Amino acid sequence: MSSAGQKTIQLSIVLLFLAAVARWLPLTANSQSARSQQGATINDWRPHQLVNNAEFLGAQACAECHRTKVASQTPTHMGKALILAAEADILRRHPKLTYRQTPYFYQIARQGNRQIYTVTDGTNSITVPLLYCFGSGEAGQTYVLQYDGRFYEGRVSFYNDIDGLDITMGHQANAPKTLIEAMGREMSGEETRNCFACHTTNTGRGKTLHLDQMMAGVTCEACHGPGQHHVAAMKAGAFDKKQIFNPQSLSTEDLANFCGACHRSWEQIALLGPRGITNVRFQPYRLTNSKCYDTEDKRISCTACHDPHEARHRDAAFYDAKCLACHKVKSKATATNLDSATQRVAPLCKVGRQKCSSCHMPKIALPGAHFQFSDHYIRIVREGEAYPN
Ligand code: HEC
Ligand code: HEC
Ligand code: HEC
Ligand code: HEC
Ligand code: HEC
Ligand code: HEC
Ligand code: HEC
Repeated sequence: MSSAGQKTIQLSIVLLFLAAVARWLPLTANSQSARSQQGATINDWRPHQLVNNAEFLGAQACAECHRTKVASQTPTHMGKALILAAEADILRRHPKLTYRQTPYFYQIARQGNRQIYTVTDGTNSITVPLLYCFGSGEAGQTYVLQYDGRFYEGRVSFYNDIDGLDITMGHQANAPKTLIEAMGREMSGEETRNCFACHTTNTGRGKTLHLDQMMAGVTCEACHGPGQHHVAAMKAGAFDKKQIFNPQSLSTEDLANFCGACHRSWEQIALLGPRGITNVRFQPYRLTNSKCYDTEDKRISCTACHDPHEARHRDAAFYDAKCLACHKVKSKATATNLDSATQRVAPLCKVGRQKCSSCHMPKIALPGAHFQFSDHYIRIVREGEAYPN
């Protein structure tokens, strides 16, 4: 960690004690901070915030001029972070999904053009139409149900790895006492808004959930802010004031927090946890802990390795050039660890020359998720060592 990085950590720790809430809240999902409710301006816009008097137009409006970006971003996992049941491939491919946990029996099945979620204890049953599928299904898909005017997180989820249903992560393993609890876990209004704020575009405005204006998935304006004024300006030829937020202007640290509005920021995990292996899915937190990380060095920013407009690269060799941008001297001794963020150099490896991430960013199975995350805490991994927090 460079001195710039250490400074931020120290500053963060001080802030955690002195002004934790004020510093941290604006980064959380659907924050109700004063700033978010008053509305930000498009120039300092962040995910989940409002902009006064600016409408979200939807990706189709962007396609008129940014056709290739819309074509590549729409089918990504982020683009499909929420899918309406009627359009869900997983449900189409599995016309009947079942799961048994005595005394309960679950079924997700198509009836006409509707998807129906049923749970029965053998005597009574609850049947609800299934509307919202959370998760593209790369790891899994969780169903958010509406029952008796309230929102519930379905107790069973689809997992890709087992090609079927299992208990939703975070739900207690034992069979619940009541049929309603067996159907799902009731969510507070705030929790429901947060789910939608991270998995859709334009649903969280102020304190109310606006499902009528929902755009399924993380689409252009979830990261760039509402596009109304930008489109008007571009059509009018006013190119000097683009009136849209471009995260390219952010430092490495600010971008980690920007993506961290949904992927969770370093502060958020440092403050609230979780500790242990369940935090492997929070990449901004993991990456910040690595010696490779520097708050200013763009070569270690999220976008150095991921283009949010495209599917992520799955071939470990793709990332080698990213590592070698800094790891290019023979030994630490010859590495004058220059403080200037863009000139830092780091040693080469004595063990491997290719697929660096396969050894230094190990894939770690998250208990209950039937999925492996790549640990962004880039480091030397020793066999048998405890998971470093
Ligand atoms: C009428 C054409 C048009 C439409 C529609 C349009 N844009 Fe643009 N956009 C442009 C032009 C032109 C630029 C400037 C390109 C350049 O400078 O290279 C631009 C630039 C941008 C930038 C970069 C801004 C910067 O400061 O560098 C972003 C981000 C962006 N558009 C997002 C969007 C989004 C999101 C939508 C849909 C809500 C959208 N655009 C719709 C024409 C359009
Ligand atoms: C509005 C919330 C939101 C923001 C902001 C956001 N993400 Fe995501 N991202 C998600 C969600 C939700 C998923 C899980 C999608 C799924 O599989 O259902 C995801 C998945 C991903 C994936 C894995 C899926 C894939 O296609 O490879 C990558 C990589 C990723 N995000 C990178 C980024 C980066 C980089 C940024 C910042 C530039 C960012 N995200 C900002 C919500 C967000
Ligand atoms: C703070 C933002 C945030 C909130 C709130 C949130 N999610 Fe997510 N969710 C993400 C991100 C980012 C990912 C991708 C990384 C991961 O899997 O942890 C994700 C992944 C998922 C996945 C796995 C997708 C896949 O196939 O890879 C499911 C299922 C899911 N979320 C469901 C939900 C449900 C249901 C809720 C509400 C109870 C919820 N999420 C609340 C941000 C969020
Ligand atoms: C998950 C967040 C995210 C989403 C979703 C997203 N973008 Fe971006 N976009 C970014 C980031 C980050 C940058 C800056 C990239 C960089 O630093 O090179 C960017 C840059 C841009 C730029 C300017 C730079 C360039 O490459 O021309 C345009 C235009 C743009 N995005 C359009 C879009 C459009 C259109 C969509 C919807 C199809 C979209 N973006 C969806 C995060 C996102
Ligand atoms: C030095 C390169 C590098 C940087 C920087 C980086 N990533 Fe990754 N990321 C990877 C690799 C490698 C994978 C695994 C790719 C694969 O095997 O599918 C990955 C996978 C992911 C995934 C998929 C889920 C998982 O954990 O496997 C998400 C989401 C993600 N990154 C988000 C981020 C975010 C957010 C940031 C910024 C805080 C970031 N990444 C910075 C290299 C990087
Ligand atoms: C922005 C520059 C940068 C990038 C990009 C980068 N690193 Fe590093 N890395 C460093 C620096 C600086 C150190 C600390 C070197 C020292 O101790 O002198 C380091 C340390 C390491 C260490 C030793 C960690 C320890 O705990 O002792 C490993 C292993 C490593 N990097 C692997 C990687 C891999 C693999 C990638 C690509 C996935 C990568 N790095 C990307 C700059 C970078
Ligand atoms: C086959 C697994 C493997 C691969 C592939 C691999 N490494 Fe390593 N790397 C190791 C191990 C094990 C060590 C610890 C060696 C030791 O005991 O000192 C290490 C050490 C390092 C160190 C610390 C060096 C020092 O002098 O302190 C860095 C930096 C590093 N690797 C970077 C990389 C980069 C960059 C790549 C890709 C070009 C890479 N590694 C590929 C396993 C691997």
